[in-house]
Amino acid sequence: MAIKGIADLDLFNKRVFCRFDFNVPLDGNGAIKDDTRIVRALPTIRYAIEKGARVILCSHLGRPKGTVKPELSLKPVATRLSELLGQDVGFINDCVGPKVLLVVNNLHSGEMVLLENVRFHSEETKNDPKFSAQLAELADVYINDAFGTAHRAHCSTVGIAELVKTKGAGLLMKEELENLEKAFDNPRHPVVGIIGGAKVSDKISVLKNILTKMNTVLIGGGMANTFLKARGLEVGNSLVENDMIGIAKEIVEIASAQKCELCLPKDVIVASGMDNDAKTKVTSVDKIGLDEMALDIGPDTTHEFTQHIQKAATIVWNGPMGVFEQTHFKKGTMDIARAVAASNAFSVVGGGDSVRAVIQAGVSEKISYISTGGGAFMEFLEGKELPGVVALES
Ligand code: 3PG
Repeated sequence: MAIKGIADLDLFNKRVFCRFDFNVPLDGNGAIKDDTRIVRALPTIRYAIEKGARVILCSHLGRPKGTVKPELSLKPVATRLSELLGQDVGFINDCVGPKVLLVVNNLHSGEMVLLENVRFHSEETKNDPKFSAQLAELADVYINDAFGTAHRAHCSTVGIAELVKTKGAGLLMKEELENLEKAFDNPRHPVVGIIGGAKVSDKISVLKNILTKMNTVLIGGGMANTFLKARGLEVGNSLVENDMIGIAKEIVEIASAQKCELCLPKDVIVASGMDNDAKTKVTSVDKIGLDEMALDIGPDTTHEFTQHIQKAATIVWNGPMGVFEQTHFKKGTMDIARAVAASNAFSVVGGGDSVRAVIQAGVSEKISYISTGGGAFMEFLEGKELPGVVALES
């Protein structure tokens, strides 16, 4: 069923409860280290204010597990929002109860208030019906703009949506779904997937699903070692999940049955350890020494991967090609980021590390779409329904 968008709903003078994903990284002193998720929420907030809504902003921050943790307060987010919007964003130190209801009911058209971290209540993550009803009491209209939390069936993403009749997706949620569907459900071919990161175990479901949809999948990062070992190669001291070798073989078989070309590294950058002082060298994957660790893809692999990227009409990227946090082992990931940016393909990048990589490479502007989702992006790639999205349908 089609989901309504915020633009389809009458917001004037309504109490519009907006669920965002303000789960931003904070430093030890409560300062926001990266405000991307706040910035990406601004169009929906501005739209609701322009339409004369009385806006209630709701989010979680971290995993406080039902206890009030001052270091996970959303207060710094209210301050940042006020700065970005040039308008006062009120803050209430709870998200349910009579005091909150009073503040919300007294909001005027065009005013907004941010509620305290919804996960300070243990009921939130249990999708507790009573707590959902308390949240729903604050809302005439429910908007979910929290794509990053759409894989969680919680009170503020699912329970409340089942109780508030007038509901829809925010502008970011719509944008995320449209771009991910364009890359994934209805892509222009050839489609190239770039999958990296440390572990096969984290990406089994993603790999199994995307092999059925993509023409080529390029595998890099630590997880490539497990595939190399499954091919019978020795990978020395490299990170390997021995219990995943069977799964890796199965994935190779699925790829071949689906006629999806699965590309593994041909050469790698090896060193005796991960630190920046370690001596590095380029080695063919069949010559990794017993005391060596593969920590990045090598130049021949980058060249081969780049050729696939250049021919792609659609690219989906999740996971780095090596330990890109370290200067010695970032080249492969940076080169792949630059190749994706230089391609003519419709490119989608998602997941914290890959997004950081395109930013670090200075090419984020040239990526067609950067998702705000981490876990939600992964579950979308796995082909799973996202409960937060489904709840907007009924
Ligand atoms: C995320 O950062 O992926 C979302 O905010 C969800 O957070 P969670 O994994 O704690 O539910």
